[in-house]
Amino acid sequence: MFAMPDKKGRIFMAKKVLLTGDRPTGKLHIGHYIGSLKNRVKMQNSGEYDPYIMIADLQALTDNARDPEKIRRSLVEVALDYLAVGIDPAKSTIFVQSQIPALSELNMYYLNLVTVSRLERNPTVKAEIQQKNFNRSIPAGFFTYPVSQAADITAFKGEVVPVGDDQEPMLEQTREIVRSFNSIYGDVLVEPTGVFPPKGSGRLPGLDGNAKMSKSLGNAIYLADDAATLTKKVMSMYTDPNHIRVSDPGQVEGNMVFTYLDVFDPDKQQVQALKEQYQAGGLGDVKLKRYLNEVLEAELAPIRERRNEFAQDLGAVYEILRQGSIRANEVANQTLQEVRAAIGVNYFDNIPTPNQG
Ligand code: TRP
Repeated sequence: MFAMPDKKGRIFMAKKVLLTGDRPTGKLHIGHYIGSLKNRVKMQNSGEYDPYIMIADLQALTDNARDPEKIRRSLVEVALDYLAVGIDPAKSTIFVQSQIPALSELNMYYLNLVTVSRLERNPTVKAEIQQKNFNRSIPAGFFTYPVSQAADITAFKGEVVPVGDDQEPMLEQTREIVRSFNSIYGDVLVEPTGVFPPKGSGRLPGLDGNAKMSKSLGNAIYLADDAATLTKKVMSMYTDPNHIRVSDPGQVEGNMVFTYLDVFDPDKQQVQALKEQYQAGGLGDVKLKRYLNEVLEAELAPIRERRNEFAQDLGAVYEILRQGSIRANEVANQTLQEVRAAIGVNYFDNIPTPNQG
């Protein structure tokens, strides 16, 4: 926030524009919650930001063009997840990327400011191309999505972009596009700053101990999971395979129950005591898992309840997205006008009369 005089000369605190988003390719899980959603809600409620939260369906389509139904279904699931965790449409503009045509036009201008070899160097896109086994058949839209992401951010003059570590290359590329645009056409765009999860917090591993919690690995706890599903998943978690009898000394490192307790249990002393007991022998996995289940249930039950309430009126949820998209269009269209004028493609803004030549 910084002090700024308004039109009548009164001093007020200008809020920083926060912009972030998610691809709607499935429901969000507790890894998303810990890694970003929880922090977004905190930033929203601090009152220091003007948050724009985007459901990035265009970006999701760049590698799902043949499965649009998945994106359509996931859109409302992601919206429900947002509302469930406390993203509040009265404080944040929640909107849908495809409903903002200005983003696609900005993308067209920005594509000319980026070289193919620069795009090829983006390490996140490189890794995704490997993972998805595209080989030589990379959809051009997928290859260029970092440019479209620059449009997402700059359309709102986003200053603060809270994202996962894997998004750092996108921010770097956005800043390069901003600098290049501003130096060629004049100062219109704003350079964004990424806000990343605290160092060492890492990402939440899956139930099975895999480094990544993901739908395709079947090792995720979803915000939408009911209490029985949560319990079943906790009971299936990977612990210490050599901890056979209750009396055996157990391993804490790599034991997912302790990894999750470290993240979710506010009572750090209790976690420490459990670790010592487990290492000494005498603490059984079932008892330990029941405890983790309680900890998770305490955090997730209110989220689940709110999600169920919103899910009873999907019409209202779509209306929130529609209203958010109307607001987002106003802001993005304003930036687009400035961009068109800077490039000089605003031909019809001042049509010369015959007298003026
Ligand atoms: N690439 C982001 C992800 O995969 C989603 C996204 C699209 C995004 N546009 C954005 C994030 C703009 C921040 C800002 O999670």
